[in-house]
Amino acid sequence: MKIVLSLGGSVFGDVEKIKEFAKVIDEIEFDKMFIVVGGGRVARDYINKARMLGADETLCDYIGIEITRVNAMLMMSALTLTSKKVAKKVPLDFVEAYELSKVNDLVIMGGTFPGHTTDATAALLAEFVNADLFLNATSVNGVYSADPKKYKDAKRFEKLTAKELVEIVRKVEVKAGSSNVIDLLAAKIIERSRIKTIIFLGEPENIKKAIKGDVRGIGTIIES
Ligand code: UTP
Repeated sequence: MKIVLSLGGSVFGDVEKIKEFAKVIDEIEFDKMFIVVGGGRVARDYINKARMLGADETLCDYIGIEITRVNAMLMMSALTLTSKKVAKKVPLDFVEAYELSKVNDLVIMGGTFPGHTTDATAALLAEFVNADLFLNATSVNGVYSADPKKYKDAKRFEKLTAKELVEIVRKVEVKAGSSNVIDLLAAKIIERSRIKTIIFLGEPENIKKAIKGDVRGIGTIIES
């Protein structure tokens, strides 16, 4: 099985958490795995500082991308102690990621181009390498009808079609200040590529459950 895992940057503030993720990834069986990591608090901090200094949004994105790549190297550090063969290079684009996967079990990367988050990067990578499964580890336990932090009556879904996901993400996006579970570009890529996707609460043990398709209480399955 070929898996792409999108891992939010919030993990990288805590060494023990990185170790826990590495342990679980070591225990999972797969043919190839690609991990795309986010920038977390450090990326946000750098982007805010750059903005205050006058940087345009594209430059801010490039700064964010560099931080995601540093986080990828942290994840790489933890995974080199496992039994998996890990690429010791963070690929800068999808072609390079694909090339590295030919001689490694595991490839870890950050962002690629300005204009979106690593959710979209991971969805594009999943499409490009023809992944069997796209796992999106987030900070909420699945997709809700509205931002659950703002709307107490928001409904959680355990199963959605990709088309339904795009509609929900689009609706949340137009409400200022609401945070989206996945970015709109990522949702659209999932829709066009028809790759089975699981959006779930990013705790290490949940990865095993998500791979088995058991999302009870932890996430949402997206299938076309
Ligand atoms: P993240 O994917 O961590 O963004 O990338 P985020 O908004 O913090 O994502 P969530 O909320 O955890 O899902 C950090 C920043 O790097 C830039 C963007 O500015 C993004 O906000 N980036 C990342 C890109 O421009 N392109 C990429 O491919 C990836």
